[in-house]
Amino acid sequence: MPQAELELHDVTIRFGGITAVNKVSMTIGTHDLVGLVGPNGAGKTTLFNAISGLVRPTQGTIRFDGEDVLKASLHKRARLGLGRTFQVPQPMHELTVRENLIVAQRFGSGRVDAARIDEILAFVGLDGKAQRNAATELALTELKALEVGKALATHPKLLLLDEVLGGLETASKRRFMQMLRDVHERYQVGILIIEHDIETVMNLCRRVCVLNFGELIADGPPADVFRDPAVVKSYTGEVVGA
Ligand SMILES: Nc1ncnc2c1ncn2[C@@H]1O[C@H](COP(=O)(O)OP(=O)(O)OP(=O)(O)O)[C@@H](O)[C@H]1O
Ligand SMILES: [Mg+2]
Repeated sequence: MPQAELELHDVTIRFGGITAVNKVSMTIGTHDLVGLVGPNGAGKTTLFNAISGLVRPTQGTIRFDGEDVLKASLHKRARLGLGRTFQVPQPMHELTVRENLIVAQRFGSGRVDAARIDEILAFVGLDGKAQRNAATELALTELKALEVGKALATHPKLLLLDEVLGGLETASKRRFMQMLRDVHERYQVGILIIEHDIETVMNLCRRVCVLNFGELIADGPPADVFRDPAVVKSYTGEVVGA
């Protein structure tokens, strides 16, 4: 499949006096698996919100597969192939796990494909929980798996994952990481994943982008980026070797 690209150019997002994202330019392809890291408040989630349509950039352009994303509605962005998960899982209340996937799929693709829903339920390990109430009967790992499942139900080409690995214990995290590698390789979906744990990013991603106070301060292979003095300083407040 030819690669589609998400192209951010000079994206700035201000909330009143706060510049949450400052002149960020980056290109993420649907063949990429990229980590997005940075301290709390660096602007990571805000950048996802701008791509998926929940906030409007103050300045800059966002294109996906050649289309002007900023002119597209939330629906249209999903239908272009942009999927996302939320930092705090947001299951729909009063609905079962399966119904959550159906609603997400209808929103994102305009139709319901029951076979695909079954495939996704099995893929994210929720086939045994399909009839459970999504809001009240799932453990944290299962809620995160449901987030990924909802995003997959819309047939994404590029998935924006907001801390889906955060808060998981080691064994669940390892299984979940393997699931994400499978999403990437088997379904050929590009992934941009926000993740705080550096070891996890080193393990999962061949490329990492670092935001600090809204600015993109590094973009490259994890082994290089995490040695970059500006990146180390953003994490620890210290200069390497000082
Ligand atoms: N809707 C909003 N209104 C006002 N300020 C906001 C809004 N959303 C985000 N911010 C501010 O923008 C900045 C970036 O926040 P954001 O949530 O994007 O950070 P983050 O990198 O995702 O942090 P974390 O790692 O804690 O999730 C913060 O200063 C935050 O308070
Ligand atoms: Mg965030």
